[in-house]
Amino acid sequence: MEQKQDKLKEIISHAKEYGFVFPSSEIYDGLAATYDYGQLGAELKNNIKQYWWKSMTQMHQNIVGLDSAIFMHPKTWKASGHVDAFNDPLIDNRDSKKRYRADVLLEEHIEKINKKIVKELTKGKKRFGEAFDETEFRKTNPNILRNQKKIDNIEAAMKKSLNENDLESLRNLIIDLEISCPISGSKNWTEVRQFNLMFSTEMGSLAGDASKVYLRPETAQGIFVNFLNVQKSGRMKIPFGIAQIGKAFRNEIIARQFIFRMREFEQMEMQFFVPPGEELKWYDYWKSHREKWHKNLNLGANLYRFHDHIKLAHYANAACDIEFDFPMGFKELEGIHSRTDFDLKQHEQYSGKKLSYFDAELNKSYVPSVIETSIGLDRMFLAILSAAFKKETLEDNAQRVVLKLPGALAPIKVAILPLVKKDGLPEIANELANQLKFDYNFQIDLKDSIGKRYRRQDAIGTPICITIDHQTKEDQTVTIRFRDSMKQERIKISAVEDVLENELGWKKLLLNLA
Ligand code: GAP
Repeated sequence: MEQKQDKLKEIISHAKEYGFVFPSSEIYDGLAATYDYGQLGAELKNNIKQYWWKSMTQMHQNIVGLDSAIFMHPKTWKASGHVDAFNDPLIDNRDSKKRYRADVLLEEHIEKINKKIVKELTKGKKRFGEAFDETEFRKTNPNILRNQKKIDNIEAAMKKSLNENDLESLRNLIIDLEISCPISGSKNWTEVRQFNLMFSTEMGSLAGDASKVYLRPETAQGIFVNFLNVQKSGRMKIPFGIAQIGKAFRNEIIARQFIFRMREFEQMEMQFFVPPGEELKWYDYWKSHREKWHKNLNLGANLYRFHDHIKLAHYANAACDIEFDFPMGFKELEGIHSRTDFDLKQHEQYSGKKLSYFDAELNKSYVPSVIETSIGLDRMFLAILSAAFKKETLEDNAQRVVLKLPGALAPIKVAILPLVKKDGLPEIANELANQLKFDYNFQIDLKDSIGKRYRRQDAIGTPICITIDHQTKEDQTVTIRFRDSMKQERIKISAVEDVLENELGWKKLLLNLA
């Protein structure tokens, strides 16, 4: 854990040093849980958005995009349940004065027990080698059975308390399990209280409740209220989806861990409208499709796992998270929810407008059910950055820090490096850049030795470096160097674009999702 926390610190400082992420308004000592994306961060973020957007809209004929306003009619949030139920159960430690989410304290406790199970499994694998049967081992190993029982009991008690909004029993569970504050080490806990997470402000010149508006806490509601607008104007037939990328705001009380939990963040959400009764079939489809989307980045299949929700949100009849192995451990990256017809029906009730769909095939009208996929863009950014960040020792014992970013997502795709600043080599570099600039972000770097320039490009994740030397003038060839393998090849300048397309093109990345 110590090592993992160190890794997070290294990533934060690397992100700042190279212009990926800065603390917001840093000259005023920053603003808690808000961050700015620098010159390279903005590019990486845009590329992640493109990967998501293209996979949703271009790769699915029946999914279209939307860009709805952040401010919405305040009744939206009454209808969606956010005014009454968008709360976190919080508990304070009296000695450290630190505030925690009660459910997160319990989940972290469960994770500690789970780690014991994983340790036991590792021992078993080592002992039995090829013959190891995990299912059987889980069923028979007494340590695993004992720990699994503990987990099941805690989960059941936690689920009951959360579902019944029984804050006292939630606190009792924390006390009974002897959970202590990670800062003070004490078990001196306050009561558990509910906090609403929405930011509000006033619209227009009038103050007071009449003009109170909220900064949206999720982009999803913008999709629901536009369901019929899109369906009718786009002549969409169910099943169909609406995708949206945009800012969301939550007054997170416990905002730590860099861009993992922010007060202003971006979501990439897609609502998929299906006939009532078909939602669980589509829930399974989206679970496997989203898993494929993540694993397609080749960051490591072992970095992902599914986690079924212990407490279902007020709108869901099935829900899970795709968790990612962040430097702080496995945490939620994306949620997949079967939201039933809850939201559309609520909006019908609060707006007085019909939101039903006439299904010509079934010859009847209904309010569709909805499957939602919802991923935090900033969390995806952190997931990619933390998996890509590597420190390697090279053959000559030198160290390199390299970001092994998926090619299509890299902020700078290609670095063009004239060996010397004279003899016409910079001019050839400019010519090549003018050819590539329509499709690829590039940097021309003239300063320092080639080795140092390679290191700088490795540190920002540039997949390809092209070196121009005196031989280039004679035979129009260049040296192309690949970031991950560090292999170098001499190729014709005329072949450069094909190599780039093959290494970095969107088509190559999206092909597996077709
Ligand atoms: N519309 C459903 C919804 O908003 P959620 O699980 O509350 O569901 C979806 O949020 C995703 O948004 C999460 O999986 C996470 O990636 C991201 N997210 C939520 N709160 C966040 C925060 N404070 N900072 C960064 N990302 C956040």
